[in-house]
Order: sequence, then C-alpha cells, then structure tokens
Amino acid sequence: MPISIIIGAQWGDEGKGRVVDWLASAADVVARYAGGDNAGHTVALDGEVYKLHLLPSGVLHEQVVSVMGNGMVINPVNLVREIKALRAMGIEISPQNLIISSRAHIITPAHIALDAAKESALGDAKIGTTLRGIGPAYLDKCGRAGIRTGDMLLDVEVFAERLISGIAVANDSLQKQGIEPLDARAAAESYLKAADFLRGFIQDASIFLHQALKAGARVVCEGAQGTLLDIDHGSYPFVTSSSPTAGGALTGLGMGPMQVDRVLGVAKAFSTRVGGGPMPTELEGELADRLRGSGENFWDEFGTTTGRPRRCGWLDGVLLRYACMVNGFSELMLTKLDILSGFEQLKLATAYEIDGLRSEHPPVTNEELERATAIYETMSGWSEDISGCRRFAQLPAAAQNYVQRVAELCEVPINTVSVGPERSQLVQR
Ligand code: GDP
Ligand code: IMO
Ligand code: MG
Repeated sequence: MPISIIIGAQWGDEGKGRVVDWLASAADVVARYAGGDNAGHTVALDGEVYKLHLLPSGVLHEQVVSVMGNGMVINPVNLVREIKALRAMGIEISPQNLIISSRAHIITPAHIALDAAKESALGDAKIGTTLRGIGPAYLDKCGRAGIRTGDMLLDVEVFAERLISGIAVANDSLQKQGIEPLDARAAAESYLKAADFLRGFIQDASIFLHQALKAGARVVCEGAQGTLLDIDHGSYPFVTSSSPTAGGALTGLGMGPMQVDRVLGVAKAFSTRVGGGPMPTELEGELADRLRGSGENFWDEFGTTTGRPRRCGWLDGVLLRYACMVNGFSELMLTKLDILSGFEQLKLATAYEIDGLRSEHPPVTNEELERATAIYETMSGWSEDISGCRRFAQLPAAAQNYVQRVAELCEVPINTVSVGPERSQLVQR
C-alpha cells in the first residue's frame, strides 16, 4: 500500500484521528493535507486521550514521520503550543519526525478577527465556523495575498513586514465595521517567536514525499473535516474553505494519483454536525440526547475544538452514498457502532422526498435540502454491549445486518467497524 487516503464521509468528527492512528502502525509517513486547527482529532491510547488539531495523528508512533502538507492553513503560534503540549505528555517531536511544508499558508491574527467579524455580520445566517480564521486564510491564499510557511525562512524583518502589512489591510476593514483594530506589532512579535521555533521543521514536503515513496515508504494521507464540508461538494455555503475530499489529498500534498491504492471513507454509524446548515436526518429530544451522550465521556458528541454540542441524527444513507461517489472510496469504515447498542429500532435514510418527488441523490441547493424529508428504512436494534467484540461474527445479528445494509446501500465494502475509542476497539471481518 504505497498511498492510502483517509477521508471523513460526513460532516467531520467521524473518528478519522483514531483510524489514522490505527493505520499508522503499518505506515512510514502520515501526512495531513487540508484544513487547520478547525480540526480536532482524538486518539485514545492506554487510557491517555490526545486531542490533535494541527499535528497529524501519526505522531504517537515512533517510526512515523509526520507531514503537514501545502494544502493546510497553519497558525504557527497554536502549532508551537500543540507541539509543546505533546512533548509534555512524553511524545517526541523534532525536525526528524515532523515536516512542515514550506508552501502551506499561515493564519494570522487578522484572519481570526475577520472570521469573527464576518460571522457576527451574518447574524442568524452565520455559518457557525470554528473562529480559527480558516475562511479568511484560504481567501487570501486564493486571492494571492497570503503569507506562506516558507516565508518564515526569510529575513526576519521581511517576514514581520508582511505580517504587519496584512494586518493593516484587515484593520481597515475591521474599523469600517466598528471593530477595534489589532495591534500589528504585538501580533508580529508572537509570530516571530513561533517562526524561530518552527524554522527547522520547514521544507519542501512534496520533495520529501516523492523521495520517501521512491524509497518504498508507505504513506497514509489524513483528511480533516469531511466530504459534506467540502468547498465544492458540501452543502455550500455551510462548508469549510478547503477540499477534504480525495482530490484534495493530491493537491494538498503535491503527489500524483498513480500510487494511491486505497481510499478509505470513515463514517460514524449515525450522523452528527456542528455549525449551521441543513441536516435532513437531525433528531431532537430524547433520541438525539442518547446519541450525543451527556458530555461525561470524552467521546460524547461535543466539539473537540470548540466544545459545542453536536447536532445528532440517524445515518443519512443518501449523503453517505454521495460521499462514496465523489471520493471513489475503495472501502468504508463505520465508527461508534457501540453507541447504537440499546436502541430498540434503528433508522437509516435511503432516499428523500422533496416537494412531493422521491430522490436518491442530494439536491444542489440548501433550500431544497432544507425541504427534504428523509425516507427511512427501520431496522431492529440490539441490546448487547459490543465494545468487547473484535471479530464480525461476534457482533449481534442485528448489528451485522445494520453494517451490511449500509455497505449494500453505498455499494462499498465495510471490512472494519469500531466499537469504542481505544486503539484496540476494532472489529474486523
Ligand atoms: P475526527 O475529527 O474525525 O478525528 O473525530 P473526533 O475526534 O472529533 O470525534 C470522534 C470522537 O469519537 C472522539 O472522541 C473519539 O475518541 C470517539 N470515537 C471514535 N471511534 C469511536 C468508537 O468506535 N466508539 C466510541 N464510543 N467513540 C469513538
Ligand atoms: P474535524 O477534522 C466538524 C465546520 C464548522 C462549520 C464549518 C466551517 O475534526 O472533523 P471553519 O472554521 O472551517 O470555517 O467552519 O465547518 N467544521 C468542522 N466540523 N469537524 C471538523 O473538523 C470541522 N472543521 C470545520 O463547525 O460548520
Ligand atoms: Mg473532530
């Protein structure tokens, strides 16, 4: 397996971090290709819980080199904090096992302030972003006005000047909205300190990956966010500003498609979403509360990055099938199957009714998706605790049927399901 791509098949938080951590044990390189610290990837190992926002989820494996790709947007100050926090937990992170692409873009305090200003101007129509400056950073990238990680290798004065002039442009627009301008010099100072710390990690990551592949390395590409948050394929404008889908892995790392031999979609056994936008299978009340959990457990449905309660609902087979289509998954993995234990009946959306018409594909506009009524198949649930199962045959028949039905509906095999957050809690065929 030279290149495996791991992709969220829903609205993010599918459990990509734990899947990447699992696959990393047989990998040489784990490379993240999109997004920034809007992501929150949880890895649970031997009772310790690691929450990663920027660092790839392979960092816990000694033999793995982690790569942060050109498709990412990186807040250098937050990255330094994350590296230091992991080091304090005993995880080794050095330029020997972490490579930051010189072509990734930098999130500045201006981007963060503009993200907040835009959300507040949108009022009730807000996207519900993570307020990490993601949209404005990608906007500068596409508008050819961004600052890149490679710029941290320049003369310190030149880097500081770029930051300060970027903040000055943002200040103009903030002041027009009646928002206090940022202190550009103070911001530049903290970024210069971060640049000092990070300089040794920065190199051309595509060249590194190319050479690693030539030497026979096995590369796992880690997606952030999810297919339905993709700037092209998601429920626009309630999306993020990057390409979490399969194509994004190649542009976000600077690799060709010919060595990719596995595209693994990760889907939760039910649906969750944080932030605004349509969600046809959303539940309210007791059922939603049961899926969400009370918040006592780290795996309950509260955002890893923002702590917001996630919206919960039945599995949306229409959107999942669509995710399989736009990514070309070679297989699908279902996570959090254990959370469905104890439901007498389970529902699986297999089609929508929109304005009296049946559709098996999602509509293009959010207005139509808001009007879509899910058409459900009802299946029997199971009451057993399945968290100790490790082989498919050990799962109750109703759980096997549920997994089988999802695979059939999506026309993609499901060979692995997870039944708990720990590295070992996987059920394989
Ligand atoms: P990611 O962003 O896709 O990496 O997912 P998150 O880490 O944001 O959210 C997934 C949550 O579910 C985390 O708290 C995981 O520890 C947890 N999790 C993953 N797989 C399972 C599972 O099979 N069962 C349970 N109970 N929790 C899981
Ligand atoms: P991981 O990698 C879930 C959502 C936000 C918001 C929209 C835009 O942990 O799966 P942004 O800050 O990116 O401009 O917000 O996207 N969002 C996520 N939801 N998981 C994520 O990442 C997300 N990253 C962004 O809630 O609706
Ligand atoms: Mg997450």
